[in-house]
Amino acid sequence: MLFIEERNPTGLTMTLKSTTDRYGAVAIAFHWLTAILIVALLALGLNAANAPTDEMRRTLLLPHIALGIFTLVLTIARIVWWWFFDRKPATLPDTPPLFASLARITHLLVYAVIIALAASGIATNLTGGVLEALSTGAPIPPLDEIGPRRAHGLLAWSFMALLVLHIAAALYHHFIRRDRTLARMVGRA
Ligand code: HEM
Repeated sequence: MLFIEERNPTGLTMTLKSTTDRYGAVAIAFHWLTAILIVALLALGLNAANAPTDEMRRTLLLPHIALGIFTLVLTIARIVWWWFFDRKPATLPDTPPLFASLARITHLLVYAVIIALAASGIATNLTGGVLEALSTGAPIPPLDEIGPRRAHGLLAWSFMALLVLHIAAALYHHFIRRDRTLARMVGRA
């Protein structure tokens, strides 16, 4: 306990904004809420794409679309938060520069791909007649040949690769390097 207090002279109470050493409550909330939404979106999207009946596809697509738009709004709010109101904590002291650069690139890509996924999802709805079908009860048209739908699928699979990299890096820090990278994103260090 004393050890943690010494490392965090601001005390153990979590602040809304990040400090040079720790993530704030808002940044942590953005991170884990986005993580939960992304897992739900991937599960709903993949199952909708492979749904055996139109009814099941419809049932899965409605929450997929609503959560996808919410994730877009949340991501824009998150960017605004970082840009105008908060500063990322400093990289941990003994992180190799290559790791720090890779992390920065991966994090930027995650933001970019979320926005591209949402944009291509919205474009799929608009060009593929999905919204119309969902609101009138008509069968959802086949989407496989539509450009934005193809882009959405490609982006989704690239995003999954990016997530594997992101999670592997967090576990590597925690279990192999035994540093505070993951702990400070759960507010425990
Ligand atoms: C922002 C994060 C999003 C993620 C992670 C995501 C993920 C996915 C995934 C994994 C698929 C299946 C891809 C495949 O197997 O080829 C999919 C399909 C789809 N998504 Fe998204 N999506 C997102 C946002 C959106 C948004 C905002 C919309 C619409 C407003 C949308 C509409 C659709 C549609 C219409 C399909 C096609 C389903 C089908 O073929 O039946 N998505 N999405």
